[in-house]
Amino acid sequence: MAAAPKAEKRVERLRSRIAHHDHRYYVLDDPEVSDTEYDDLLRELRELEESNPDLVTQDSPTQRVGGRPLDKFARVEHAEAMLSLANARNENELRAWAERVERRLERLDISGRQIRYVTEPKVDGLAISLTYEDGVFTRGATRGDGRIGEDVTQNLRTIRAIPLSIEDAPELLEVRGEVYLPIADFAKLNEQRAAAGEPTFANPRNSAAGSIRQLDPGLAASRPLQIWTYGIGAHRGFEPSRHSETIAWLRERGFRVNPEIQVLKGIDEVAARCRWWEDRREQLDFEIDGVVVKVDDRGLQRELGVAGREPRWAVAWKFPPSTATTELKKIVWNVGRTGHLLPFAMLEPVHVSGVTVSTATLHNEEDLERKDVREGDEVVVLRAGDVIPQVVSPVIQRRKGRRLRKPKPPEKCPLCGTPTVKPEDSVFTTCPNRTGCPGQQFQHVKHFRGALEIEGLGEKNAMRFLKEGLISDAADIFALTAERVAALEGFGELSARNLIEEIEGAKRKPFSRVLYALGIPGVGYVNAESLAEHFGTMERLLAAQPEQIEEAEGIGPVLAEQIFEELHEERSEELIGRLRDAGLRMELDRSERRVVGGPLEGKTLVLTGTLPDLSREQATKLIKRAGGKVVNSVSKKTDYVVAGDSPGSKLAKAEEMGTEVLNEEGLRKLVSQ
Ligand code: IVH
Repeated sequence: MAAAPKAEKRVERLRSRIAHHDHRYYVLDDPEVSDTEYDDLLRELRELEESNPDLVTQDSPTQRVGGRPLDKFARVEHAEAMLSLANARNENELRAWAERVERRLERLDISGRQIRYVTEPKVDGLAISLTYEDGVFTRGATRGDGRIGEDVTQNLRTIRAIPLSIEDAPELLEVRGEVYLPIADFAKLNEQRAAAGEPTFANPRNSAAGSIRQLDPGLAASRPLQIWTYGIGAHRGFEPSRHSETIAWLRERGFRVNPEIQVLKGIDEVAARCRWWEDRREQLDFEIDGVVVKVDDRGLQRELGVAGREPRWAVAWKFPPSTATTELKKIVWNVGRTGHLLPFAMLEPVHVSGVTVSTATLHNEEDLERKDVREGDEVVVLRAGDVIPQVVSPVIQRRKGRRLRKPKPPEKCPLCGTPTVKPEDSVFTTCPNRTGCPGQQFQHVKHFRGALEIEGLGEKNAMRFLKEGLISDAADIFALTAERVAALEGFGELSARNLIEEIEGAKRKPFSRVLYALGIPGVGYVNAESLAEHFGTMERLLAAQPEQIEEAEGIGPVLAEQIFEELHEERSEELIGRLRDAGLRMELDRSERRVVGGPLEGKTLVLTGTLPDLSREQATKLIKRAGGKVVNSVSKKTDYVVAGDSPGSKLAKAEEMGTEVLNEEGLRKLVSQ
């Protein structure tokens, strides 16, 4: 039976009152009514909805904690990728970033104005994205790998500062922000957990992530989670021209936006503001680990574009790391990917900037020797951002005549028992059992899944598959079947199938990633890209002599020799062969290459000014894909100049030289010929 119009009106009125009070309380921190008055409104609404179930809507405040626990999170694709940020560790690096921004804009022929920057606290919580469709909050997701995250809508709904619906809304909107647990609540929660004999969270960030990335919305609701929003992702139906406009827009629509966000002119003001935040850090009731600095003008942002996963228009000024001293109880040895024995420290637990640390890395044998750290020492522990805590040095004066023995690497591999060796030309004690040592196998698989972003194959699963004999190296991953995985205890059919699907996805990862995944010492992501670009195919790389490998950008003679040797080890050749058979990419993708025979083959183009739709990067890609080349300055050899808004001297030069000038549309026509 349809609800009476009167009930419907009252329900609407109650919802808007409740949304208003939620906003006053959770966003503005300035309530207008007592808790009892608020509870009365909510109770009345709940009762009305109970007797008129057809009036219940997704965005009703009664639905904040309505959901049942889930079996697992669905994976969702962000409409626009969630990027990460480049770091600046000090003022010099901040200034260097700003100079790069300015230089780049000058090169692009757009400058002359003083750049405006926005400064925001870098909140140390869990990054999330909130999707609104026609003004209704329809989905909330974690960042995941930036492209695909987990659907945590039910849990995010429990955060009252997140509006369930917004007025005057565009058709589609992704709001980006950071969910966190206030420091005092984190401490209280840990006390309760400790009293109940449950494990405590290491820091507020983990407690926020742990509250959101678990399947029971009831539990999420019981944690006083909060949010700061700081930007948007995909959006249709409105187009802010400045980031600061976005910030104000979000605030007007009821999102919680930090009131201390400022727009500043020039980098001197920015540096001063970063220091201001650093001083304030200890007084805040939430953790921040730095300040995010963004170019305000969105047109300029678009021109600056993205390098890898980091926008060139933003940077994170990271606060210096914190240190503490504690007792080093024991030095334990692990095995690295290439067989080196790696020491780490078991510590008397100690707090370092809000985190309890009980293990820390000692890097490697050489470092250990140099620092002269010994078991029983009082040591300085340093924790910087996300990285593993490390032992910096012993507090020598605390030894006070105690005789502490110098640590020695074990004579047998702690993981496989093989006698260790220390080659003459090496500073590292090594486990020589490269293919059979479970420690090395594990490290290799771990690196491999990281490089190819096989998220579902976490450390635990990798360890398990190795132990149970499902795999013995990285290439074996591709022989896994859903049936075999599902047969393991604790694996459902669905999770097994998801994992296999993800493994299949690794076959679509670019050649440079595959090269990186091989785990050749000295070949990180950047060098792998440079090798991939230089050689184009695995075949050509394998056929190259060290002198030719050295020709790739960034590869020196020693590394070239090392890469050559490693690639021609029998086990590498075998691994590459099996990966090829499994269907992984062994050559550059077509989209990564300049196309031969395209409509712009042999043509040289120059870009100037801001194009209406294409960023500089997109325009360059378009031209490359059509076989053309983009250069920076206009000369006799230039075939076309593509000019957008506020073009610079390049346009004048083109006119002077009689070079053909195109707008974006002209370019598009040309490439689609
Ligand atoms: S902007 C386009 N602004 O920092 C750049 N990120 O490495 C994308 N974060 O996990 C992020 N406060 O969630 C931005 N005011 C802020 C931020 C912020 C915290 C987090 C973000 C991400 C990481 C970026």
